[in-house]
Amino acid sequence: IPKDAEKMIEAHELLKKFYHHLLVNTKEGQEALDYLLNRGFTRETIDTFEIGYALDSWDFISKFLVKRGFSADLMEEAGLLVKKNNSDDYFDRFRNRIMFPITDHHGMTIAFSGRVLGDEKPKYLNSPETKIFNKSKILYNFHRARVHIRKNQQAVLFEGFADVISSSRSGVENAIATMGTSLTEEQAKILRRNVSEIVICYDSDSAGIEATNRAAKILQSVGCHINVAMIQDGLDPDDYIKKYGSEKFKNDVIGASVPLMTFKMSYYRRGKNLQNEGERFQYIENILGEVSQLKSAVEKEIYLKQLSKEFDLSMDVLKEQLNQKKPKQE
Ligand code: CTP
Ligand code: MN
Ligand code: MN
Ligand code: MN
Ligand code: MN
Repeated sequence: IPKDAEKMIEAHELLKKFYHHLLVNTKEGQEALDYLLNRGFTRETIDTFEIGYALDSWDFISKFLVKRGFSADLMEEAGLLVKKNNSDDYFDRFRNRIMFPITDHHGMTIAFSGRVLGDEKPKYLNSPETKIFNKSKILYNFHRARVHIRKNQQAVLFEGFADVISSSRSGVENAIATMGTSLTEEQAKILRRNVSEIVICYDSDSAGIEATNRAAKILQSVGCHINVAMIQDGLDPDDYIKKYGSEKFKNDVIGASVPLMTFKMSYYRRGKNLQNEGERFQYIENILGEVSQLKSAVEKEIYLKQLSKEFDLSMDVLKEQLNQKKPKQE
């Protein structure tokens, strides 16, 4: 590891501990701590996930780091400080935010995501891409979740940090998330090296549903088998757990996850009246489009049979229609 990178990580490790101390032991951190406790975070999860608080100050961290021998220039490169326009002055990137440390897959802190306490924008402020932080290769909580992923032979993929934390507290500890961006192929490959069964448990709003389709496609392309855990009423997993509790989350959400094709079926059905011939035809076409992308002949057969039964169509007709679909270019 180059010396610069080592120093950057050292600063992140130091700040992680300092932010955590500010949150749990100081008067300045009290409001942030109350916010978290009100949201249902426990002292135990705050400790486990090493959550912290960045003071409402423009230069507290700048001074803190320089006093400890870190060069301001390097700390800017690390994303912790920001340079003022046309000057050699720096200010703290993270101010008055709840700090979620982001670690690499060995557990070393390499970035932060800071959440506002109220409704200001942006809700989450993330470290920029740096020498030590490549967003497209990092999965939140992977270093803690890995042992559970291996043990359960399954990983649960969430949208947000709070979802991962609430899920873990509920006993679903094989929980990971992306960095507020779409799942990348690199992240999918990292997962695939550890596990083949993935449960996608995204927010149940329309953005979450679209993101589920995108993530599923990427995960399938690296050979993962996907189930989807659906939450019914527009909530996200963290809200759901807060409202209905851990047991219901484990049994009625994670435990009731369905194969990707079942999710797609209800996705394409949404808002359609299948009694209407045109809409029914459209639906069958949609499903055939999905079936044509399946790699397994057995799976293809299973879903064709299902269509055949439901719409009283012969397997021959369905197969003929399926063959007209262009095979996916690899
Ligand atoms: N996100 C982000 N920047 C934003 C909003 C969201 O990076 N301005 C990322 C965060 O990683 C967040 C994820 O996208 O966790 C999902 O967004 P959203 O569902 O809006 O946030 P929640 O995780 O539900 O946040 P919270 O529960 O704290 O409100
Ligand atoms: Mn602690
Ligand atoms: Mn969301
Ligand atoms: Mn959410
Ligand atoms: Mn949320």
